[in-house]
Amino acid sequence: MIILTGGTGYIGSHIAVELLNANQEIFIIDNLSNSSSDVLKGIKNITGKDFGFKKIDLRDKFSLEKLFKEHNFESVVHLAGLKSVKKSNEDPLSYYDNNILGTLNLLDVMKQFKVTKMVFSSSATVYGLPKKLPINENSNVGATTNVYGRTKFIIEEILKDLIGKKEGWKISVLRYFNPIGAHSSGEIGENPRGVPDNLLPFIFQVAEGRLDKLKIYGDDYDTPDGSGIRDYVHIEDLAAGHISALNFLKEKNPISFFNLGTGRGYSVYEIMSIFENISGISVPFEVTSRRKGDISEIYADVKLAKNTLHWTATKSIEKMIEDGWNWQQKNLNKLKGLS
Ligand code: WQD
Repeated sequence: MIILTGGTGYIGSHIAVELLNANQEIFIIDNLSNSSSDVLKGIKNITGKDFGFKKIDLRDKFSLEKLFKEHNFESVVHLAGLKSVKKSNEDPLSYYDNNILGTLNLLDVMKQFKVTKMVFSSSATVYGLPKKLPINENSNVGATTNVYGRTKFIIEEILKDLIGKKEGWKISVLRYFNPIGAHSSGEIGENPRGVPDNLLPFIFQVAEGRLDKLKIYGDDYDTPDGSGIRDYVHIEDLAAGHISALNFLKEKNPISFFNLGTGRGYSVYEIMSIFENISGISVPFEVTSRRKGDISEIYADVKLAKNTLHWTATKSIEKMIEDGWNWQQKNLNKLKGLS
């Protein structure tokens, strides 16, 4: 059985669907701090499969130990953590408490119960300001520009120290670029609590009239149209990358790092115009000052995941935006719920 920490989140729920569709037995835990248990229905509607769920915060070590006692887990997909760049800079302690302490508890309990296989949800933010593009897994990490990225970097360092202990650890670290979109069924998708930080949910909420205009955080970057460039990847492609990473754990490498991206960057203005072509809705916007911690451009060198995990992103930027907008329109009531 595979346990998914943070499994009712945007990324976790899509991985749950992929694993169930691959006939894997899964158990989801989540503290529901940034997701709702409605997601469980969506996963069930898509797959028709049953699975375990328990509301647990990784900082509650007693409940975590109890769960590992009750179930025979063979591996862990560790997604639980806070993920807002902006909020992480505003409240660093809660990010270190949630992301680092939660992970330390999880690793300790895994060790206690000899569960040593893990896929860890990391982020391209560990690269900080890239010196060369596309960026590959051997590039320098650690010069992160925000607290969220620092927590991911610190956890990567903890994992590297762990495998030196020769306790049979097998770990795949996945560095996500910018996951967007939603499952094509419209049953699950990105449903952040409060005002979204990320670009696409913000655009969608402006388009549906919930927010009045998009703030473009600076268009004076050294990019062709001045706005920030990111490597957006369809959430279903990203989820499939986790299946490949779980399969890779059977190989001999104690720890491996992989970029999960498309290898192609798009600017904010390009994203807006693709959305307008798809939806027929023009998004009102104003250009404001740059957001603290933002970088101008990053996109992935994706050769390693292709050659080693035999994984590549398959869905186009148009499909990503179409599926995200489809989710938004099908779930207006649900999205208002998580205020
Ligand atoms: C994308 C671009 C902004 C919002 C972060 C994390 C990453 C991952 C995704 C967790 C940038 C611009 C955005 C807005 C804007 N997190 N923007 N107005 O910061 O690249 O990545 O979120 O999985 O790990 O680092 O994503 O969507 O916030 O920004 O102009 O209202 O859109 O400046 O250029 P980011 P983002």
